[in-house]
Amino acid sequence: MRRLVSETTVRPRQLILPMFVAESADSPRPISSMPGVVQHTRDSLREAAVEAVEAGVGGLMIFGVPGTHDATGSGAVDEQGILNVALRDLRAELGDDTVLMADTCLDEFTDHGHCGVLDAQGRVDNDATLQRYAEMALAQAEAGAHLLGPSGMMDGQVGVIRRALDDADFADIGIFAYSAKYASAFYGPFREAVDSQLKGDRKTYQQDPGNAREALREIELDVAEGADMVMVKPALAYLDVVRAAAETSPVPVGAYNISGEYAMVEAAAAKGWLDRERTVLEVLTSIRRAGADMILTYWAAEAARWLAD
Ligand code: PBG
Repeated sequence: MRRLVSETTVRPRQLILPMFVAESADSPRPISSMPGVVQHTRDSLREAAVEAVEAGVGGLMIFGVPGTHDATGSGAVDEQGILNVALRDLRAELGDDTVLMADTCLDEFTDHGHCGVLDAQGRVDNDATLQRYAEMALAQAEAGAHLLGPSGMMDGQVGVIRRALDDADFADIGIFAYSAKYASAFYGPFREAVDSQLKGDRKTYQQDPGNAREALREIELDVAEGADMVMVKPALAYLDVVRAAAETSPVPVGAYNISGEYAMVEAAAAKGWLDRERTVLEVLTSIRRAGADMILTYWAAEAARWLAD
């Protein structure tokens, strides 16, 4: 009877698997703060992507970990940069069987670890960064991404990327905007995952955890600029924001069940303090119950297998 009347479903197609690929990896490198997640080589990324697609996930979100960093994140726009090369590999391997997404952000590629380029005073320069994002978006579209995920929280980023894509005949490439992204402590393990160079914080461009109304304004702006889907991030500590976004957004809403949320459950499960599978499924169900259409989660492939009919 519970099954008959259950209000919330989690389907494999609603899950998106974030994956890391490292330029200098000769073999998959474990990420100690994210047990079970690795920095892939190009080959292991391809294999893991095929497995995830076979499990039924709806999409893959790819992050690149370059071998070298510089002030403007050149590796992000270079067609031989690790992320662009990996996107080309995956599109060739998977065709259009799954939605191939790319993180459109500079932080993995910069030597200061910020999501944008810096001005002479060392502050993130919003408008100079937009130019860089447009170039990065074109490189990712050329490499075969179906959907771009601008995650840097620069003002105007969606509009600039949309125009650049349209002008270059990439009208079919969509934008999955990280619209409501909070300056969160839960990103901790991700910094290890991408070998982040960041000192300091992202408070000049990411949101204050106390603000909910601001999230809706960010979503409204991104939709007006051409976002095809919007995202709330993190997910678990922000389910009220996910709910508000779901009720007001005219486009599909994703929620990112981020690295710190993954690490908490994995750590407690490893100690035998939580039942891992039950906890993971409860987390995913709760994010869906809050109203997310899609969930980015490091458990996507495994959960998809659990949820297969
Ligand atoms: C920025 C980006 C971050 C994450 C996804 N994209 C880090 C940040 O904004 O500090 C975090 C994802 C996670 O923690 O799982 N490119």
